[in-house]
Parts: sequence; C-alpha cells; structure tokens
Amino acid sequence: MAERMFFSVPLDRITQLELIRLQAQLGVTLGGRARVVPAANFHLTLAFLGPVTQGQRLALLQRWQALSVPEVSLTLDGLAYWPRSGVVCLTAKQTPIALAELANALRQDASGHQLHQSQRGFRPHVSLFRGVERLEGDLPEIAPISFSVREVDLMVSVFEGKGVSYQSVKRWGPHLSSVT
Ligand code: 2AM
Repeated sequence: MAERMFFSVPLDRITQLELIRLQAQLGVTLGGRARVVPAANFHLTLAFLGPVTQGQRLALLQRWQALSVPEVSLTLDGLAYWPRSGVVCLTAKQTPIALAELANALRQDASGHQLHQSQRGFRPHVSLFRGVERLEGDLPEIAPISFSVREVDLMVSVFEGKGVSYQSVKRWGPHLSSVT
C-alpha cells in the first residue's frame, strides 16, 4: 500500500509558539470554513512526494542516506492567501540558496523516480490555516519570525477520523546523517 509522503523542515518549540500567537490574531480575518493548523502539524515542506510504495520508500531512503542538512536561518516575514489551495501561510521574501538547492534536488529526484512532479518552484512557506474560502479583509503586515534550519524529516501523512497527522519516518540532523 502506498503512503503519502513529503520532505520537510520541522519548527522548534519557540517558533511554534510564535505561530500559535499569530493564528490567534488572524482568526477573525478568515471567512468560510477555515481550519487552524494544529501546532503539531507545523512544518515547512521541501518536497511533496505523493503516494510512495514500500519499494519506492526503501530506494528513496537509500538514495538520501547521506542527506546533508543546510545550516541556514530562514526569516518568515509575510503572510499570503493562496485561494486555489485555500491556505493562509507564512512566507519568506528571501530563500537561502542552500535550502532552495536541497528542495530542488529532492523534487528532481522525486520526479525522476515516478513520484510527484512539482508544478511550481520552491516557495518556502508554513501553512497556518486551511479551508479558507475568502478573506474578510487584508492580511496584516507581521513582525519577522526567524528560525534556524537544523533538521529535515521524511514524513508520512496519515488520514485519521479527526483530520490528518504527520509522522516522521526518518530525521536527518546537521552533523549526523540520521538522528533517529
Ligand atoms: P503545505 O506545505 O502547503 O502545507 C503534506 O500533505 C504536505 O505536503 C502538506 O504540508 C502540503 O502543503 C504538501 N502538499 C500536499 N499536497 C501537495 C501537492 N499536490 N503539491 C505540493 N505540495 C503538496
């Protein structure tokens, strides 16, 4: 059975708290059936892989055994509403080159191995709300939120009764090829 997978950067606890505060401020601006993304699900997607079979997963892990985590800092300094996906997210005006290189390499690897083919370039973002059908006003300017990229996760997305949950299959750290 294939599982829905993606590579992502996890957020540290302090950054998560800043995002929760921002969600509380923004809630009133969002119309329709907006759903708050739970803090446990905060992440920055590097590459969405789509459905991955057991065989593809083993080969993927082998190819990326020595994945090197770029030691960069990312500043989330804007808010965006993407109507097609119904997402309100935090975005970054500047993308660290090393992070974009890793995201692009993961995406190329995926499309070269019969996995998801990304239609758009890498746009670093962290989703805060889903199911947003419209905005009641403009999204406000925000104070920049910076965090250090220290780890990369290979995640599996599991649909449960109450929604989706993400589980880390493997985590790479800055100095070790694997920390789990
Ligand atoms: P997000 O980064 O905007 O939140 C797991 O489903 C993750 O992969 C989600 O975080 C989601 O977006 C991203 N994702 C889901 N479907 C996608 C698709 N078709 N193309 C690109 N990314 C997708």
